[in-house]
Amino acid sequence: MGQFRFLTAGESHGRALVAIIEGMVAGLPVSEDYIAQDLERRQAGYGRSARMKIEQDVAEIISGVRHGLTMGSPISLLVWNRVWEDWQEIMSIAPVGKKIRPITTPRPGHADLSGITKYGVEDIRLILERASARETAARVAVGAVARRFLDEFGIAIHSHTLSIGKHRAKQPKSINWKQVEKSPVRCADATAEKAMMAAIDDAKAKGDTLGGIFEVIATGVPVGLGSHVQWDRRLNGQIAHAMMSIPAVKGVEIGDGFSVASAKGSQAQDVIGTSSKDALPWHRATNNAGGIEGGISNGQPIVLHAAVKPIATLGKPLPSVDLRTGKKAEAHYERSDICVVPAAGVIGEAMLAIVLTNAMLEKFGGDHLKETWVNYKNYISSACSRQRYAKS
Ligand SMILES: Cc1cc2nc3c(=O)[nH]c(=O)nc-3n(C[C@H](O)[C@H](O)[C@H](O)COP(=O)(O)O)c2cc1C
Repeated sequence: MGQFRFLTAGESHGRALVAIIEGMVAGLPVSEDYIAQDLERRQAGYGRSARMKIEQDVAEIISGVRHGLTMGSPISLLVWNRVWEDWQEIMSIAPVGKKIRPITTPRPGHADLSGITKYGVEDIRLILERASARETAARVAVGAVARRFLDEFGIAIHSHTLSIGKHRAKQPKSINWKQVEKSPVRCADATAEKAMMAAIDDAKAKGDTLGGIFEVIATGVPVGLGSHVQWDRRLNGQIAHAMMSIPAVKGVEIGDGFSVASAKGSQAQDVIGTSSKDALPWHRATNNAGGIEGGISNGQPIVLHAAVKPIATLGKPLPSVDLRTGKKAEAHYERSDICVVPAAGVIGEAMLAIVLTNAMLEKFGGDHLKETWVNYKNYISSACSRQRYAKS
């Protein structure tokens, strides 16, 4: 982890989720309302379970912000779990004086089986409570603070759904983000949107689930974030790590990723042309690289795709074994989503915001926003100007 880092804690049905952020500059305007917008976007999406209607997440800022501005000290955030009321006995911190029936039928596709083996426990609840993607609510709250920082530098991050099941959206030339925000599946193609929603209904009726692909785009990213000099400083590596850390994400590509593998070298690169209009004396007509070359941002939009697997908890449970008896049994079922691709896109935005905030702070430093801003401005007007090249 770099200068901007965070930890989360909390169980899915525990009292609350918490996050501690370290390394944010002082002087950044942050509010609970701003963070709430992203939390709400994470909870939306056709195909989510009824729990999303119960929760209506809000992050309380507990420390690190005074009179609306960050102080440079750790920022802590707290998201209460509204379902806690019904889970007080099962998730009680103190012993309850009676045996709570353990979960012993592991769900394929979850951390259940490997988790109980690794941690030496019998009750799968001890694993599933933390492995649950409920934790991503805390990450989205952290990501909103990062997004607030990036706003100051004109960096914007959006996501949309490219596919759900077999239904793929047509890629429009320019994406209408307002339309995406209104779409129940966060899709920019109205025809595909209908097909995706029908496919989710069909999967639900059959006790099944669906996966898909989301795209995240960051615009306004300056040239020079990340580095070629060390493996862990490569920006594309950091982004891939962040995306793969989202539960159910099974593949990530930056730019044209997998399809460039079958293209010819003459077609796969973004050739460098001259420009008299751009801030820098060059121009790229294409962005196959997705905004990163040699581990360094190249000034083009950062574009990535992430593949989300179909949810592993099925209404019609998959075959499993009851570990108490060693006999065949249906996998444990607990209220579950049918499709999380739209929500995963919002989490992808948060994770990208976190990586880019860290990379910005690494490049421009500073303990107060003003200091970071001055360093940024100096860099943009000196290193990233055509005059610089004219002089050499
Ligand atoms: C926003 C979101 C919500 C999720 N909700 C569920 C769910 O309701 N039921 C489920 O079985 N998996 C759900 N998942 C996926 C699981 O958390 C994930 O598949 C599981 O922890 C195993 O991890 P892995 O798929 O990364 O190997 C969700 C994922 C995300 C991103």
